[in-house]
Amino acid sequence: MSNIVAPSILSADFGSLGNEVRMLNDSDADWIHIDVMDGHFVPNLTFGMPVIDSINSISKKPLDIHLMISKPERYIEDFLKYNTKVLTVHLEASKHLHRTIQEIKSHGVMAGVAINPHTDVNHLNEIISDIDVVCLMSVNPGFSGQNFIYNSINKVKNLKNNIIANKSDCKIQVDGGVNAKNAKELIENGADILVAGNYIFKSENPKKNIITLKEI
Ligand code: DX5
Ligand code: ZN
Repeated sequence: MSNIVAPSILSADFGSLGNEVRMLNDSDADWIHIDVMDGHFVPNLTFGMPVIDSINSISKKPLDIHLMISKPERYIEDFLKYNTKVLTVHLEASKHLHRTIQEIKSHGVMAGVAINPHTDVNHLNEIISDIDVVCLMSVNPGFSGQNFIYNSINKVKNLKNNIIANKSDCKIQVDGGVNAKNAKELIENGADILVAGNYIFKSENPKKNIITLKEI
């Protein structure tokens, strides 16, 4: 069981959020993926600190926080006060990305950079040795339950080559439309971390699907 699996809480039943988090506590999930959206960088709003406070107080798993917000540097400290394992900002939303990454890392938290489906992985070359995680968006960010964009497999492959060429130990995370059908190809091409929302929460047996992704 070597793949890191981070269920995306956006697909959970928010009427029973506490129970959904307890279910994850009792599962083989590694981290809880938290999608923060601002209705500006992406065409959707999700949740902010009060909801994350509640998740954090119940969760026994570290949080993997994915900021889909403009100018994420405004809120870095707020999101570091949880049991945060990874804090991810978007390349497309950050003017001084290197500074933001340094700030995240200075708190002992893994720094992640996410890129949209249209963004070339080569745009990360100058910082690939400074970051801990690249989050490759395999759908357009904003909503869970979308179809996987197949070109993401090529992006994983190209990114993996760049990571090796730069002798970086950065991990590759894939986020959006991940399921048992595409996970194998993603892992074979170099993905380390699988985020999945609907594949886990909309299934009859979420814990079983988490194990499937871990073992694939
Ligand atoms: C999309 C989010 C994803 C999404 C994943 O903007 O970043 O984390 O919730 O959900 P699925 O796996 O259903 O695409
Ligand atoms: Zn996400």
